[in-house]
Amino acid sequence: MLKTVPIINNKGGVGKTTTTVNLAAGLGREGRRVLVVDLDSQGSASLTLGIDRDDLEPSTASVLFGEHAASDVIQPTATRNVDVLTGSLRLADADTKLSSVNGREKRLTKALSGIMDDYDSILIDCAPSTSLLTVNALVAADAFIIPVAPSYLSLEGVVSLGEVVKNVRMSLGEAAPVLGVLLTMVQRDDEQTRSIIEEVRNHYGGKVFDVEIQHDPAIEEAPTQGQSIFDYAPRSQGAKQYQAFVEEVVDRLDRYGSIYDTVQEKQAQRT
Ligand SMILES: Nc1ncnc2c1ncn2[C@@H]1O[C@H](COP(=O)(O)OP(=O)(O)OP(=O)(O)O)[C@@H](O)[C@H]1O
Ligand SMILES: [Mg+2]
Repeated sequence: MLKTVPIINNKGGVGKTTTTVNLAAGLGREGRRVLVVDLDSQGSASLTLGIDRDDLEPSTASVLFGEHAASDVIQPTATRNVDVLTGSLRLADADTKLSSVNGREKRLTKALSGIMDDYDSILIDCAPSTSLLTVNALVAADAFIIPVAPSYLSLEGVVSLGEVVKNVRMSLGEAAPVLGVLLTMVQRDDEQTRSIIEEVRNHYGGKVFDVEIQHDPAIEEAPTQGQSIFDYAPRSQGAKQYQAFVEEVVDRLDRYGSIYDTVQEKQAQRT
């Protein structure tokens, strides 16, 4: 099964947190049990899920630094079937604190191993960096999702996106699949945006999800109420598009997951 999926892009403000939270909410609505791991010191995913700023600690930092077990720190949220391991300012110390620790790239994998069976999906909201935290997310990953905001991307950016994918895979050693590239914050009335979208689709083909998340003020407003787009504005264009995205993700998780399971079985038979 493909369970652990980081939402990743080293570029800031491309819709990682928005996508993590709305995908979590959408999977939760389908009856899947979801854990959001907030790996950003800003704690935006946790706040978007309605957690109070005063309740961000103990956080993912406490787990990575070995102070608490994940099961002691995970909090329920008001979003159906969605729990969260909160992000907090202390995550900013992770690179320094973990630098001399053995197996520092595997801290998250280890921390999550105890709660794996409690969830169908574990979504990780990454910060826009290539820090040790991001490396931990990549090591824990079964597959990953890359959101891209074409309005903020140049044509050269399309190529550097390829670099992101390549670096991710290299740092993994083995290739966890890209589940897909999601076009977000799309403004279709802009000619340059349209040509960048075309370029991304030409370059990445079937890896790009069919649905595009267009720019929608409701998507931006939902976090201020600690709600997903489905609860905040269920009839909005944003809710419809994120729902279509959720369905594509479920389809890919099932399809790629069964290929993955077959490969694992074959390998097990051979050894
Ligand atoms: N489709 C959309 N329409 C309108 N606003 C959006 C949309 N998607 C995201 N936003 C807004 O754009 C901003 C950046 O989005 P978000 O925080 O999800 O990006 P991010 O990649 O997580 O950023 P960072 O790299 O800083 O963590 C937020 O204010 C968010 O509400
Ligand atoms: Mg974010």
